[in-house]
Amino acid sequence: MPERYDLIVIGAGPGGYVAAIRAAQLGLSVACVDKRNALGGTCLNIGCIPSKALLDSSEQYALAKHRLDRHGIKLEGVSLDLAAMQARKEKVVKSLTDGVAYLFKKNKITPVFGTARLLGAGKVAVKKTEDGVSKEMVLTAGAVLLATGSEPTGIPALAYDGTSLVSSTEALAFEKVPQHLIVVGAGYIGLELGSVWSRLGAKVTVVEFLPRILPLADAEIAEQLQRVLAKQGLVFQLDTKVTGASTHGGQVIVNATSKGKDVLFQGDKVLVAVGRRPYTTGLGLQEIGVKVDERSGRVSVNDDFQTNVPGVYAIGDLIEGPMLAHKAQDDGVAFAERLTGKKTLVSYDLVPSVVYTWPEVASVGLTEEQVKATGREYSVGKFPFAANGRARCMDDTDGLVKIIADGPTDRVLGAHILGPRASDMIAELVAVMEFSGSAEDIARTSHAHPTLSEAVREAALAVDKRAIHI
Ligand code: NAI
Repeated sequence: MPERYDLIVIGAGPGGYVAAIRAAQLGLSVACVDKRNALGGTCLNIGCIPSKALLDSSEQYALAKHRLDRHGIKLEGVSLDLAAMQARKEKVVKSLTDGVAYLFKKNKITPVFGTARLLGAGKVAVKKTEDGVSKEMVLTAGAVLLATGSEPTGIPALAYDGTSLVSSTEALAFEKVPQHLIVVGAGYIGLELGSVWSRLGAKVTVVEFLPRILPLADAEIAEQLQRVLAKQGLVFQLDTKVTGASTHGGQVIVNATSKGKDVLFQGDKVLVAVGRRPYTTGLGLQEIGVKVDERSGRVSVNDDFQTNVPGVYAIGDLIEGPMLAHKAQDDGVAFAERLTGKKTLVSYDLVPSVVYTWPEVASVGLTEEQVKATGREYSVGKFPFAANGRARCMDDTDGLVKIIADGPTDRVLGAHILGPRASDMIAELVAVMEFSGSAEDIARTSHAHPTLSEAVREAALAVDKRAIHI
């Protein structure tokens, strides 16, 4: 293995591995270091991919158990083989991490497994332990990209113990369905993993500090999602701040305050999902003087993703912006292209977000609350899936499409979907907004019949009060 490269990427998650591939495509020699013994980072190994595998499996189980009879399919003796479900999840993860290894080979990127630490601009020490013996090597490069991602923030008074008080990592790998799972935080992770275990038979109580779920989502969409999830069996305790917990023989007592009163919850598992923070432990940032925002812990970078130390760059969850895999990938491509002299820009205002509950929530642009706060004139068009032919055929009629357009220009300012496969449908709206399109543009675009996407067109028509099917 050569010791000098054009670029060393630290972290092989969606930000890092994509940056490495794009840089290699552009002709750079690249090494990518990761301390996990697999490529793909948090997303592929203990995040997006395993959670979506369990979400898909648990949704199939819930369908078989509760809803296939409505299609005239009678099943008897439906039962859960959790070990097989977890094994399938592992197989999906392995196939995708192996896929990244194949892409590295194809693009002649050198993977290096070990813990990286910056020694200075262009100089990285990589430490690894083999057969109990610790070894260190030093790699050098013209540029070093930090792409080490994030870790769960947790609550100091609820220290993770890895068995009863857990983060998403352990909650993705339970070997038994919990009897009562208490989820602290009604954000992305809480709602997704709460849904998985509720579908598989656990009682799930979601305890949220704010008076609503999904604090950053459009309020109307969040309220409707809460109603649907409550129908599915999730119990919500909003306006409730978790303050501590104690474990007693396999049971956890969670202490909280709600509207000035003390409240207690008791369960066998507690998932703490109250946010994530940049992961920079042991990277040597302080030692070489890389500037980090004191409050958020995010690494400060300029438009070229360069830190205050020349030759050291950062992307993804480490820097400003939503902590989302696709945002990190966009950063990664833009970083590599800017490093090689291209003027690539990312539309950070148009990064979509998705919550993979069922129905799913997908959003892009401004929420109605944000538009209202600007004081501008605007129109809202909505269309419920209950009035969409394909959703009826699928027996998936919960939710709606909501499009917010600027009053004078009709330009789409925000779009929010609660519905089946919202994650796939949002792409149309992102593309329209990327081209500064209007609701009229969507309304005049042919959408195949019968499809879920017709609800998008109808919502666009509803902006001008001329939806056909409602
Ligand atoms: P989050 O920021 O989405 O939600 C955390 C929730 O915890 C908030 O609603 C907050 O009010 C609440 N909270 C904070 N302190 C509390 C307390 N003491 N008691 C009760 N509630 C409290 O964070 P989450 O779910 O941990 O996800 C972290 C990040 O991971 C997300 O921001 C997202 O960027 C990423 N992610 C994205 C996914 C996706 O794209 N589908 C899936 C999973 C994670």
